Amino acid sequence: MKPWIGDNRMPLNEDAANSSSRAASRGVGGLVYGGDYNPEQWPEEVWLEDVRLMREANVNRVSIGIFSWTKIEPQPGQFDFGWLDRVVDLLHANGVAVNLATPTASPPAWLVELHPEILPVTGHGVTLRAGSRRHYCPHAPQYRDAAKRIVRALAVHFRDHPALALWHVDNEYSCHIGECFCDQSKAAFRVWLERRYGTLDALNAAWATTVWSQLYTSWQQVEPPHPLPAFGNPSHQLDWRRFSSQSWIDCFLDQKAILREITPAVPVTTNFMGFHPTIDYWALAAAEDVVSNDAYPETSDPDWAIDAAMASDLMRSIGEGRPWLLMEQAVAYATWRDQNSTKRPGVMRLGSYQSIARGADGVMFFQWRTSQAGAEMHMIGLVSHGGIDNRQWREATALGGELARLSELAGSRVKAKVAILFDWTNWWALETEGKLDAAIRLMPHVRELYAALFRIGVTVDFAQPGSNLAGYSLVVAPHLYLVDDAGADNLCRYVEGGGTLLMSFFSGLVDDKVHIRLGGYPAPFREILGLRVEEFAPFAGSMTNGMRTEDGRRFECRTWADVVRVDGAEALATFEADFYKGLPALTRHRYGKGSALYLATRPDEAGVAWVVGRACETAGIAASPGASSAVEIVRRSDGVRSWMFVLNHSDEAVEVPLEGSGVELISGQAVEGSLRVAPVDLAIVRTQ
Ligand code: GAL
Repeated sequence: MKPWIGDNRMPLNEDAANSSSRAASRGVGGLVYGGDYNPEQWPEEVWLEDVRLMREANVNRVSIGIFSWTKIEPQPGQFDFGWLDRVVDLLHANGVAVNLATPTASPPAWLVELHPEILPVTGHGVTLRAGSRRHYCPHAPQYRDAAKRIVRALAVHFRDHPALALWHVDNEYSCHIGECFCDQSKAAFRVWLERRYGTLDALNAAWATTVWSQLYTSWQQVEPPHPLPAFGNPSHQLDWRRFSSQSWIDCFLDQKAILREITPAVPVTTNFMGFHPTIDYWALAAAEDVVSNDAYPETSDPDWAIDAAMASDLMRSIGEGRPWLLMEQAVAYATWRDQNSTKRPGVMRLGSYQSIARGADGVMFFQWRTSQAGAEMHMIGLVSHGGIDNRQWREATALGGELARLSELAGSRVKAKVAILFDWTNWWALETEGKLDAAIRLMPHVRELYAALFRIGVTVDFAQPGSNLAGYSLVVAPHLYLVDDAGADNLCRYVEGGGTLLMSFFSGLVDDKVHIRLGGYPAPFREILGLRVEEFAPFAGSMTNGMRTEDGRRFECRTWADVVRVDGAEALATFEADFYKGLPALTRHRYGKGSALYLATRPDEAGVAWVVGRACETAGIAASPGASSAVEIVRRSDGVRSWMFVLNHSDEAVEVPLEGSGVELISGQAVEGSLRVAPVDLAIVRTQ
């Protein structure tokens, strides 16, 4: 073992390795700052300059080895850790801790040569070859075994290295390839189905195979949902999505088991991609110690901060409120969109603080030094092709300096009074074909509801229908098309117990097998909502309708109208035209100690704001004075102290009212009564 000095690692047992020792900011004593570092792309003399510059920029953490499989294992079973030892030692000697990656996101050419069957196959039967990255099928045992072998070798080799702060497993599971249709995948799907259903009778019943004569009489007849002549069976499609999601999680669990066995005190993460469609992040986050996210908002979009905030709130929520890590962001631009705009002065800083405001304990970049060649050579890192005499470097070093002085924020939490329900199973089921209107999509609708709350400075958690909702005054259920019995009961009990629920149309329609819940829509919620949806009236083409509110306003409605028959609910707004003219567009029903609101259409932006305002009012939730589309207000707290973040995304200075007095952390100035924040700038006010 190497004589490393200053190892303050926790004792190596499962109890001692509790969640706080497995924190995002482990070993840093403050906020994490750094980025992906790919030293294998550079001669060793460059490493010396790298660590010198890292010190200058206050970098305290880098992720290394993410795409280094061939460099670590150039031949099957032959490991070369020499270069990695040297670089990890060098980083440690310079005060930089390491997120050590398991390099399994890009299998070596030798593995593909030995086992071409690890290559992924699309639904159309096309094999995707090696030559970029992520060219593996998650079900290929040849891949899984090779991955486990290198993970074990890496963990054994670095188990006692004091620089090891966090395991970074693989990279962006299911990025590029969400599912694989090869023969090994087909076999794995059948095994998964057999485990889930036990018998073919149970599968046939769950998939309602009497429809269109789809009865299966042998497991061998069951296929993945390949491209088909007409609509596929939605129950079959949903199980395929569940299976594919679980396969990526299983790849993670393979590695996590090895890492936990060998390095029980070292936390484990894998980096997420915000609202990524092909993995149930609730399930994957539950297996992680630290949630981490990669965020590449397109900052030329005037509402980019809303999208980025939403992803941050998701990360905090799936980690049950624990501090998380912004694992990757761009210092300037990405390269993978058709058009990639640069972050204008101050925008990278604002985005970084936004993550921290929303619960991150660190900010990292892709990547430290810009590659000279290869697929991402135009994606600028902190150290650019021309060196460090540029705006990006100046902004990055200034940010590193600031964050180093903000260590008091680490470990504090964000508390939200509102939860938006977000469930991957529902997302998958909702977005299968054959549902009257392809415009019913989950993300745009979630986003418009979230945006309305963002603009009034109301912080949002995401939750699942079955989550413990007791701490929330308001729960929003956008298009909760699929809900299982336990989730439906939980929501009803939430309302009965005093909660306020805002549910939107196309909710409560199917169970977890994607079978319609009979007895009138939305069957499980009719009682709490005090209504019945008698008929759907989807809009054709560019058709709209109007909605008139009880307080005399009018908003445009898009996409859809439910023809609602109230049974106890009051109408807060009604449709202004068509055969359902005068029937409710928004209802409210007092039920038990709580209230349930139902939105029967999709109002325009102002209408959504009004609806959300009514729901907040019912729930007793107040807006944050000063908040708007461009002025973001969020709070973190450690139970004793509270920090109010005010992020000004606009080009004008803003004045935000303050309750009481406090200290603005970045300037160190005492503030009272109100706070002035310069354009594209922020303030963090600490109050006791
Ligand atoms: C991420 C990925 C990185 C890098 C980055 C920039 O999605 O994890 O490896 O590719 O994007 O494009």
